[in-house]
Amino acid sequence: MNVEVSEFLETGEIMIIPLFQGTEKAPNNSTKGLSRSASIAVKSAISSEKFEGKEKDRISIWSEECQIILLGVGEKNKLTSKKSRDFGAKCFSNLPENQGRNIVIRFTVGWNNENIASFAEGMILRDYSFEKYQKKDDGGKKDSEWSIVCQATKRYTEELELEIKKLSSIATGVHLARDLGNEPANRLYPEEFGRRALEWAKGKENVEVEVWNFARLKEEGMNGLIEVGKGSIHKPCMVFFRLNPNVDINKQVPCIVGKGITFDSGGISIKGSAGMDEMKLDMHGSATVFGLFQALHATSYEGRVNGITCMAENMPSAEAYRPGDVIDTYSGKTIEVLNTDAEGRNVLADGLWKASELNPSYIIDLATLTGSIVVALGHEATGLFSNNDSLSKRIKKAGDDVDEICWPMPLLPAFEKQMTSSKIADVRNQGKGRWGGAIQAAGFLKQFVQERENKNGEKTQIPWAHLDIAGTAGIWGGDSNATVSHGATGIQVRTLHRLITRD
Ligand code: BES
Ligand code: MN
Ligand code: ZN
Repeated sequence: MNVEVSEFLETGEIMIIPLFQGTEKAPNNSTKGLSRSASIAVKSAISSEKFEGKEKDRISIWSEECQIILLGVGEKNKLTSKKSRDFGAKCFSNLPENQGRNIVIRFTVGWNNENIASFAEGMILRDYSFEKYQKKDDGGKKDSEWSIVCQATKRYTEELELEIKKLSSIATGVHLARDLGNEPANRLYPEEFGRRALEWAKGKENVEVEVWNFARLKEEGMNGLIEVGKGSIHKPCMVFFRLNPNVDINKQVPCIVGKGITFDSGGISIKGSAGMDEMKLDMHGSATVFGLFQALHATSYEGRVNGITCMAENMPSAEAYRPGDVIDTYSGKTIEVLNTDAEGRNVLADGLWKASELNPSYIIDLATLTGSIVVALGHEATGLFSNNDSLSKRIKKAGDDVDEICWPMPLLPAFEKQMTSSKIADVRNQGKGRWGGAIQAAGFLKQFVQERENKNGEKTQIPWAHLDIAGTAGIWGGDSNATVSHGATGIQVRTLHRLITRD
């Protein structure tokens, strides 16, 4: 999609005029450039009682030069950036396929820059499909790019253009994350993810990608990742993303860690078959990390940022790890495996310890970690756990700003204790019952975040947050979110971009 900003000039093949409730007269500029007859048709439609400008009110007007759509957006003082984004997304998904791809949107009286930009962002985010494995018989129509012109008053256009350009660059990261999430597990396995990351880095001066293959993982003693991944013919790997690696060398910078289980069968503790196909999405944490780096790069972010993704396929086989096994993790701590389906935490154990070694300003991990978080929050919000209030608040704020809700959850000590009460190892990978499963998992992860000395010589844990995206990676917001139609959502790319670039 190509988005431009201009004053009220051309009319396009399809012209959309979003109007607030109670608009009785055609606003200034709404009919500019239209023929007399089209102009009269628009004016009379707006002043008629058939169109009140309520949400979902919609009138199509046919004219020789273009099709005109009047779009009701409800009360002006109730319009938020979220609503505006959803209007944009819905408006895009309702566009007729066969009336041309040159769209003009006229933002007349009552529209401010923030809401216009969100409307455009909604269209951009929604303009996504994953059709590479489908034969097309539409004569190439779907291949032709949409051209969107957002029209606004002259004094707005310059700023608006910059803002929309930025949002559209960020969206390339969201779309990349969705692409990765949607890839089936026979196409995207750990090493293929690594290969794509290396390919992505090629020719980009300020990024570095490094892949630690199976042999290297063994050398390093990354047995959390190895044990989970060794049951598959597709061996595990760890992928390092580094943006601006030579900048701010003496400054602590963020490290973002992603769970990358390219398929989670459950392993020997195998899952039921219903819905198991969805477990190709169990690498969305890693997809978000990759997408975030794309978004940061595309917006020319100048700070240094590190990313680590823990890639493995969790399969049952003669070589698979088993319940009862004890793992020597990279941290030196041992894990008693009680359930091979609690694999995400095992791979993250190594990822978090490695992240800690980078002496980061903070660590954020993203993981489709538990069914339990879906029970708690449904598909409306990501679960946010943190050992640091300030970090937690900043993440919550960033999520709110872009309408990707991160809901604070408690790290209750009782659950942490369950995870450290193995009879034969340091940590166990399953709690004592099903209640509080998401908190148990977070309590487990916390064991693998290192401590370091603060200014007063006291040892405290590195600021860390865990985002359980199990409920938001595949379905997000149910009907309340229009920016994605189905499949991987690209969740939290925009949140983390906001957090990192605003901090
Ligand atoms: N990948 C799953 C969690 C999941 C569930 C993600 C639903 C997306 C949608 C994870 O590896 C898992 O299997 N978790 C278990 C943990 C349990 C065995 C302690 C769970 O939540 O049931
Ligand atoms: Mn699992
Ligand atoms: Zn999993």
